[in-house]
Amino acid sequence: MVKRNPNMSKLQAGYLFPEINRIKNALLEKNPDAKVISLGIGNTTEPLTPHITEALKNAAAGLGTSEGYSGYGAEQGMKELREKIANVFYKGMVSGDEVFVSDGAKCDIGRLQVMFGSDVSVAIQDPSYPVYVDGSVILGATGNYNNENKNFDNIVYMKCSPENNFFPDLESLPRTDLIYFCSPNNPTGAVAPKAQLKKLVEFAKKNNSIIIFDSAYSQYIKDPELPRSIFEIPGAKEAAIEVSSFSKPIGFTGVRLGWTVVPNELKFEDGALVRNDWNRIMTTLFNGASNIVQKGGLAALDDNGLKEMDSTIKFYMENASIIKESLDSLGFKTYGGVNAPYIWTLFKGRDSWEVFTEILEKCHVVTTPGEGFGPAGQGFIRFSAFGHRENVLEAVKRLKEKLA
Ligand code: MLT
Repeated sequence: MVKRNPNMSKLQAGYLFPEINRIKNALLEKNPDAKVISLGIGNTTEPLTPHITEALKNAAAGLGTSEGYSGYGAEQGMKELREKIANVFYKGMVSGDEVFVSDGAKCDIGRLQVMFGSDVSVAIQDPSYPVYVDGSVILGATGNYNNENKNFDNIVYMKCSPENNFFPDLESLPRTDLIYFCSPNNPTGAVAPKAQLKKLVEFAKKNNSIIIFDSAYSQYIKDPELPRSIFEIPGAKEAAIEVSSFSKPIGFTGVRLGWTVVPNELKFEDGALVRNDWNRIMTTLFNGASNIVQKGGLAALDDNGLKEMDSTIKFYMENASIIKESLDSLGFKTYGGVNAPYIWTLFKGRDSWEVFTEILEKCHVVTTPGEGFGPAGQGFIRFSAFGHRENVLEAVKRLKEKLA
């Protein structure tokens, strides 16, 4: 018999979103007529926009011709796309050869964890996107789970709550090798201003740590003063990797396209370039993003594509306003939902799984319990702004009727 990876048994329950789906399906089994609306997982719902769809169609059709056919491409992505990402999203702050195109941010986070291995110490924001913790657990970088405080022994939890403006007191934290940081934040919707990111970069440099900065929601930032990339902070290229995605700004959740920026300046303790190891990982474990999809990504970054991206984001952010205003009108304290598509809502003194169940049972609306994102999420519910407009309107109507 094959011995099971002992780290697998350290994972807490199932992965959050399939777990929520399981609970929703159990409700549907009991009550098959329930018209369940999901404001749970941040899964895009609106059709791809015309210009981007056209580019995908043309790319697929091209593959059916001898002139247009291509097999394996560069594992790092098409040169043109890497350069376009560097120019459009980073305004030249990074170069094309520092951008590695992939099948998505979550997959890149997993591969980064493989690259850093199990012998690293890790800090994460609490609450945070579950992949940072779960992936680290699978790799064996976390120690054991402590049932009393609901923490892993070797993870440093950087509590992010309304009390500290969703930014940890860095000076009180021990040094770790890696620091995961997500802004705009999933799940709290908080966006770190430049002054906070500057502190984060200084802290990482002082400690010789590497920041893994997740900017998957950066295009949702409307406020021009807020940084969309860690690389807007001087010196960040010596201290950070940035992971990002086409999923949320243009609805590529199912199409799959993302990227990771590993700056040429970033080094390991022995002076070796992190970029070279990342290149090794990508060429070994990945065969390049789909050539069809990369053409879609290129189209998304030309003038028409960028206009369509704006309209997609505007649509979801109107949903966010509708949800946030409704929850505010019910007297709940809400955070986020202004420069991020998540509304982090406080149900003071309540257990978040209990509130999740109550909303599901009374309103037939799926949300995400804050505790699923870490111990500091207790008492909060995350509402996602991804949904058809009529569903969002119906969901808030039910919330107003049943939770008032
Ligand atoms: C979420 O709901 O937190 C995310 O959309 C899930 C994901 O992007 O993997």
